[in-house]
Amino acid sequence: MIIAIDGPAGSGKSTIAREVAKRLGMRYLDTGAMYRTATLLALEAGLVPDRIPETAALAAEAPIRFVERPDDLTRVFLGDREVTDEIRGPLVSQHVSAVSADPAVRAVFTERQRSEAALGDVVLEGSDTGTVVFPGAELKVYLVASVEERARRRQSQLEAQGILQPLDRLVADIGARDAYD
Ligand code: DC
Repeated sequence: MIIAIDGPAGSGKSTIAREVAKRLGMRYLDTGAMYRTATLLALEAGLVPDRIPETAALAAEAPIRFVERPDDLTRVFLGDREVTDEIRGPLVSQHVSAVSADPAVRAVFTERQRSEAALGDVVLEGSDTGTVVFPGAELKVYLVASVEERARRRQSQLEAQGILQPLDRLVADIGARDAYD
């Protein structure tokens, strides 16, 4: 069975998808983390903002691994290197929309998500999982929340990592990302 949970940034996709997966004993796949990891690689390789189309080749080879932790955020690794916090930081957040808009990058991750799902029951979360990746998913959920509420949640998540950001800045960032996404 495939459950696709969709919605804009900060709407609660990760929290809900993780909980649903836990309660139903299904695997959980954070597709946004894939795009975020590709963005980190692109930034480190100097491909942002002028050579974004070259990211797809890096993404195709990227050894992205997820390690589930009960009652905690899924840890994300690139090979042996943990990137969980880095991919949620402001730099990656600022550029992920542009990287994830690249059609070749999308093709790489759409394929990877379909292969993952072929292994068995899975809860996927991400902004095209119910429309493009699995339009035929048995259950599709679209979550909504106001920009202000989403900015407040992002602020607490960042605060937990020791990063302080003013709310009005996050409201502006999320509004811009909504428009771009
Ligand atoms: O859900 P998130 O904030 O981690 O997503 C990060 C970005 O990646 C966001 O700009 C939307 C994009 N994304 C996407 O285009 N397709 C997905 N399946 C998941 C995320």
